Amino acid sequence: MNILFVGDIFGSAGRKIVREHIGHVRESHQVELVVINAENAAGGFGVTPQIAEELFDMGADVLTTGNHVWDKRELMEYLTSVSADSQQRPRRVLRPANFEPGVPGYGVFEGVTTSGVEYAVIDLMGKVFMSGTNNAFLAANELLAGIRAKVILVDFHGEATSEKVAMGWHLDGRVTAVLGTHTHVPTADERILPGGTAYQTDVGMSGPYDSVIGVEKELVLHRFLTGMPGKFEAAKGNPKMCAALITCDAKSGRASAIQRIMLGE
Ligand SMILES: [Fe+2]
Repeated sequence: MNILFVGDIFGSAGRKIVREHIGHVRESHQVELVVINAENAAGGFGVTPQIAEELFDMGADVLTTGNHVWDKRELMEYLTSVSADSQQRPRRVLRPANFEPGVPGYGVFEGVTTSGVEYAVIDLMGKVFMSGTNNAFLAANELLAGIRAKVILVDFHGEATSEKVAMGWHLDGRVTAVLGTHTHVPTADERILPGGTAYQTDVGMSGPYDSVIGVEKELVLHRFLTGMPGKFEAAKGNPKMCAALITCDAKSGRASAIQRIMLGE
């Protein structure tokens, strides 16, 4: 069974490049499950219900997010418009599972592919250099105790490479894949860990690479040069879709291959 995980979509350039490639990648690799991190899809800050629908129309099964999940307030209403046991689209948009208890939305989704394979997607966020989260390692333990599916994909949205590598080892042999997001820079360390978990520290942004992690480079340079605040705007140049293609055994959930993908215009 093949799973496609698309790294953080950034702005309209990111949405456009993903639209260009996702169809042929899905077809040529007979992808059964598509998960997209969408937290920067709306101009670099958050995701709107309309954009979420657009990504589902492109073939996404589940959307993950991270620290920018509440940037567009209308998303909160969308997330809470369905019940916990719903399979509808709003229930398939996740926020990090290790936010404070009682926060709107859900951090895990359990579903079934069209060919009948049960799967789960977990969204977790790091604590190192980030705020608003509880211990992601303990949260993962708790969530896994309640999941029946064998095919389990974890989006670990984190800043520090050390924390992400540690999560890979923590979940090795317990989930199908641990895929890092948030830094917007793809890492070349994709591998299958000894227990059968596919791992990559950061899948990389799907967005404009003539930028500073998605933002117009002049605006960021201005801030670094002067220390003065300024409005950040999403860049457009040199868009690429970054993704990871994971092959796993549908019965055991064990991964056998992970391939790094970077596709330009
Ligand atoms: Fe992020």
